[in-house]
Amino acid sequence: MDEKLALHGGTPVRNQPFGPSHDFGDEEIAALTEVVRSGSIGKGSRVAQFERAFAAKHGVKHAIAINSGTSAMHLCVAAVNPDPGDEIIVTPWTSGGSIIGALLHNCVPVFADIDDTYTLDPKDVEAKITPRTRAIIAVHLFGNPCNMAALREIANRHKIFLLEDCCQAHFAEYQGQVVGTMGDINGFSFGGKHLSAGMGGAVLTNHEGLWERAILFGDTGLPRANGPYAGRPYANYFLAPNYRINDLIGAVLLTQLAKVDGYIAKKIYAAEQIQAQVADLEEITPQRVRSGDRHTYWVLGFTLATDRLTCNAWEFANALNKEGIPAGGPYIGSSKEGPLYRNPFLAEPNMYGHSRFPFDYGRDKPIDYRLVECPNGEALMQRGFNIQMHPSMDDEDIADIVHAIRKVTLHYRQRVHNGHTS
Ligand SMILES: Cc1ncc(COP(=O)(O)O)c(C=O)c1O
Repeated sequence: MDEKLALHGGTPVRNQPFGPSHDFGDEEIAALTEVVRSGSIGKGSRVAQFERAFAAKHGVKHAIAINSGTSAMHLCVAAVNPDPGDEIIVTPWTSGGSIIGALLHNCVPVFADIDDTYTLDPKDVEAKITPRTRAIIAVHLFGNPCNMAALREIANRHKIFLLEDCCQAHFAEYQGQVVGTMGDINGFSFGGKHLSAGMGGAVLTNHEGLWERAILFGDTGLPRANGPYAGRPYANYFLAPNYRINDLIGAVLLTQLAKVDGYIAKKIYAAEQIQAQVADLEEITPQRVRSGDRHTYWVLGFTLATDRLTCNAWEFANALNKEGIPAGGPYIGSSKEGPLYRNPFLAEPNMYGHSRFPFDYGRDKPIDYRLVECPNGEALMQRGFNIQMHPSMDDEDIADIVHAIRKVTLHYRQRVHNGHTS
């Protein structure tokens, strides 16, 4: 007998909310007070200190702190200095923030399919390369690293840049190497993931030329003291926005940086416990993690065998929510507005005013994103549900999540009666 779902008037598994996603407290108050009392809250010593600490923690030469992950990914593209109409290969199952900078830079996203790691399938990346390809963006979705060896090999062979989008994957590791250190220049978001100040982002690179262009790009192309153009006459040297952050954000990031390893250990513990405890449910399969990789579980994602259930992924997630477990349905996975190429900003053909630019630039026919398809990802991601991992999740919370997943799965499990399913 399965339990009556809360959705149908049964008792919910859980009534109280989960704990906080971050530990903001006395240290942050003290650090912020110090900055305010200093009388100088602009970009200053705290931001510089954070940049040094973040770079050192990754063993990378340069970090640039910036105001969002979207801006960080814009810096990565701007650093490469592409020409209008240049192509950038990327997964369509990611935040718009992965490509907004590329579009503002008049580049053309080219979408490659994913596999059951929910990250780029290198074979399809290879198939999407053209003479206009300038870079690949490797998005480590939910915290799961891309196949970096394969993507690096492709990038080197075609002499194009490899950029990492680590916004969801702080301190994840591909075969023992931390993300953000394998691409040529790589972006992070601090808007609410593992390391967070409620806003912010960063770029990491070992490459002097890319660092130089990126740091100037985030700061309106001005020659600042100690920057790459220090000493030059005051002027805007190329077209660039102001994406700077200030020392209040820098101070919070510094205190949080000391806590982030603890957050990650707890997220991994919770995610691995949940996966182990639902492993007997054949209708749900977790996002595949390559052996030897470290997933840092901003989100724990599963795929449903909907052919063996009497519900779709949205109904499944809704039933979990009614049980008191905040769960999301398909992550940008609906067939309508799902993958980025179905989002109105791409699917409606006019991006700037009434023009088709940059999708027609140097092309006989403009690119029409309504015609794009990535069949594996579409089949996979519309069957997804996901749960955000919090460092505060203890064994009782984990037990509730497992109980709810089991309850909902058993309820919707198809039963076979005399050869007929119900
Ligand atoms: C993969 C990915 N890239 C980029 C971004 C953009 O980051 P932000 O929201 O800080 O602009 C996000 C944010 O959710 C993200 O998940």
